[in-house]
Amino acid sequence: MAYSQSNNALKFTVIFFIFLVCALDVVSGQIRYSVSEEEEQRSIIGNIAEDLGMDTGTFLVRKGRLVSDYTKRYLEINLQNGMLFVNERMDRDQLCGPIPTCIISFQIVFENSPEMYRGEVEIVDINDNAPSFPESTIHLQMAESIAVGSRFPLESALDPDVGINSVTTYSLSPNAHFSLQVETAEDGAITIELLLEKQLDRESQASLQLLLTATDGASPPRSGTAQILVTVLDSNDNAPVFDRKVYKANLVENSPRGTLIVTVHAIDPDEGSNAEVTYTFSNRVSQKMHELFYLDPRTGDITVQGMPDFEEAGSYSLDIQAVDHGSPEIAGHSKVLIKVTDVNDNAPEVKVTVVSNMVPEDAAQGTLVALINVIDRDSGQNGQVHCQIPLDIPFKLQTSLSNNYKLITSGLLDREVNPLYNIPVTAWDLGSSPLSTNKTIQISLSDVNDNYPRFARPTYTIYVMENNVPGASISTVNAFDPDLNQNSHITYSFTTNLIQDLPVDTYLNINSMNGTIYALRSFDYEQLKNFQVQVQARDEGVPPLSSSSTVKVIILDQNDNAPVIISPSAQSGLAAEVIVPQAASQGYLVTKIIATDADSGQNARLFYQVLKASYSSLFNVGLNTGEIRTTRGILEQDATTHSLVILVRDNGQPSLSSTVAIIFLIMGNVTEMFSEASNFVTNSEHVSDINLYLIVILGSTSFIFFVTIILLIGIKCKQGRNNIEDYNSPGCCYRLDDSNDVYNPTPALNESLNYTGAGKIVRVPETHHYAVCLSPESAKSDFLFLKPYTPPISQD
Ligand SMILES: *[C@@H]1O[C@H](CO)[C@@H](O)[C@H](O)[C@H]1NC(C)=O
Ligand SMILES: *[C@@H]1O[C@H](CO)[C@@H](O)[C@H](O)[C@H]1NC(C)=O
Ligand SMILES: *[C@@H]1O[C@H](CO)[C@@H](O)[C@H](O)[C@H]1NC(C)=O
Repeated sequence: MAYSQSNNALKFTVIFFIFLVCALDVVSGQIRYSVSEEEEQRSIIGNIAEDLGMDTGTFLVRKGRLVSDYTKRYLEINLQNGMLFVNERMDRDQLCGPIPTCIISFQIVFENSPEMYRGEVEIVDINDNAPSFPESTIHLQMAESIAVGSRFPLESALDPDVGINSVTTYSLSPNAHFSLQVETAEDGAITIELLLEKQLDRESQASLQLLLTATDGASPPRSGTAQILVTVLDSNDNAPVFDRKVYKANLVENSPRGTLIVTVHAIDPDEGSNAEVTYTFSNRVSQKMHELFYLDPRTGDITVQGMPDFEEAGSYSLDIQAVDHGSPEIAGHSKVLIKVTDVNDNAPEVKVTVVSNMVPEDAAQGTLVALINVIDRDSGQNGQVHCQIPLDIPFKLQTSLSNNYKLITSGLLDREVNPLYNIPVTAWDLGSSPLSTNKTIQISLSDVNDNYPRFARPTYTIYVMENNVPGASISTVNAFDPDLNQNSHITYSFTTNLIQDLPVDTYLNINSMNGTIYALRSFDYEQLKNFQVQVQARDEGVPPLSSSSTVKVIILDQNDNAPVIISPSAQSGLAAEVIVPQAASQGYLVTKIIATDADSGQNARLFYQVLKASYSSLFNVGLNTGEIRTTRGILEQDATTHSLVILVRDNGQPSLSSTVAIIFLIMGNVTEMFSEASNFVTNSEHVSDINLYLIVILGSTSFIFFVTIILLIGIKCKQGRNNIEDYNSPGCCYRLDDSNDVYNPTPALNESLNYTGAGKIVRVPETHHYAVCLSPESAKSDFLFLKPYTPPISQD
């Protein structure tokens, strides 16, 4: 069509030209030419002179000139030959733009003729321009979500050429999404639009490059292109997707706060905020889990926040979600499984059920005392528990069921030795670093009356001074019972009934509660030197237990007896008479004062002194012996009668004393002496000579006998000196040795000598050793003395 258009135009131009030439003849003429644009300079357009009907010479002569309104002289006339030529290159598209017919008009004037001719030159378009788009690159942005069928108007291409040389067709590079819609309006204006044929997806193709081509209708055609860059804008059309459907992680229990368990990660293929994800636990996750675990919303790190406890849950399942920041938000989901591995973090728990707090001390072996139940909340080895108590106590553990133990007695119990047991129970598990728990079971033993009261001493010896105050306490016995309460509550009593044929309670009384012993009578040493009673302590247990002890009461002597002078005897108020032979030489034993003291010891040790003498120089008395001897021979001129007063005193504190007055008669011969002596001994006036002789003979015999006895006793007592304990046995004699002031009981000689009876202690002065054995009758007498030989005097 384009080319036929141009052919017609050419014909039309020629016809029109001829018409113009004819018309010019009539009215000053109008000439018309046509020339293609862009013709070279000096290209001939036409012969004006000829067309005006002039020859060249005429045209030259008339000085024709070309006048035009244009600033640029596009056209010019060759004045020589009247040819119209292109003076300046002409661009139709510039000169006329889109106007389809572009005409440059001019006038031909002649200097010497008023005639004026009009002329026109049509500038014929040639396809000298290619179509071009205003921008070589068209940027388009469209949301991926836009609907199929949406249109996007594009600016059409420009082609300064007109007609067929202008843009006639558009085309779009092949692509999957868009097509080009071209519409030509009635005025020939073409509009082009992009039509979305297929849904865009930024995630698969974020941008498209299209080539838009505009082609004109010339032959050969020219074309221009523009690039269309389609940027697909993201819309939040994708949910974040986690790496895994389920995340599995292991966690050691008791891991510290902040320990990373697992990192979850989700990807959102969208863009920008649509792809930014925030991790959260899903709504189904309980508050408890929130306390235990922390999910970092940005990084997806799941860390320990609380104290996950294996014993509470062996594993945790957490639903998580990743939410993007699009509008609306879209969430992706996943799950985290956390397996907790056990750590030995639980010490065993020991539960004790005490069967009885009081175990009787006589409980049989194997008596159940307590039940022990041990629990460890850990698992495996960490939860296996052993239990133990010390071995050195009379208790042991017996396993019944697993983790159940019986605490039973395993030995003899004695409350008096150990009334209370604090039994430490140690339970430990078998974890690699074992944990243990200690618990103490307190077991008290209850008392059983298994102990006798025990006296502090097996024998109590009480010394009581004679003449004591009746009713005063003399001593206390004490027994102890290690049992408790009633079992240790002691009462005291005497088990002896009689003392010397009298009821014991006439002598002593005992406080049954505290064992204080009272004397009920005033003791007399001279009557009763000692006695013993059995005392019993008895507890109040059921049955009661008792034991006894011996209480020995020893009565101590007091100096309560004055010496008693036995010989020489005198009738009361009178002095004793002693005959001294005229022939007595110096040192002659005139007589011996014999005195006794019922007391004992120092209280019975006697001293003899001359208290008063008529004639002092003739007689003296042995301080200790009481022997009265002459100090010199008796002279003729001495008086025949002398008198002495002798004081006998004991050694007690204070000392007691007695006196005796003696009259000495000095006689010339024996007969006289004996007659005097018979007076002294018998106080009788009737002493015959025969009797006197008998006295002398028997006296000497008696003296020999007496010395023999002393010797025998001395020997025997020396032999039995060691046998001291026996002093209380019947028939014992006592040896008295004044050289060392100690009483030494001596075994008896009495059997050979026919002496029997309780012993008496006698003090005899100086180195004389006397053994005295007394018959029971004499032991009962108030005093003891050495019996001098008394001749058996018959009262003829
Ligand atoms: C329990 O007692 C044992 C032995 O005396 C000791 O080694 C352990 O440390 C104690 N355990 C506890 C928890 O006190
Ligand atoms: C024993 O009891 C009596 C009477 O209550 C009291 O006088 C005495 O002092 C007590 N003896 C002791 C040793 O407590
Ligand atoms: C001895 O005694 C007798 C009578 O008894 C007397 O006759 C005599 O003178 C006495 N002898 C002396 C020496 O006195």
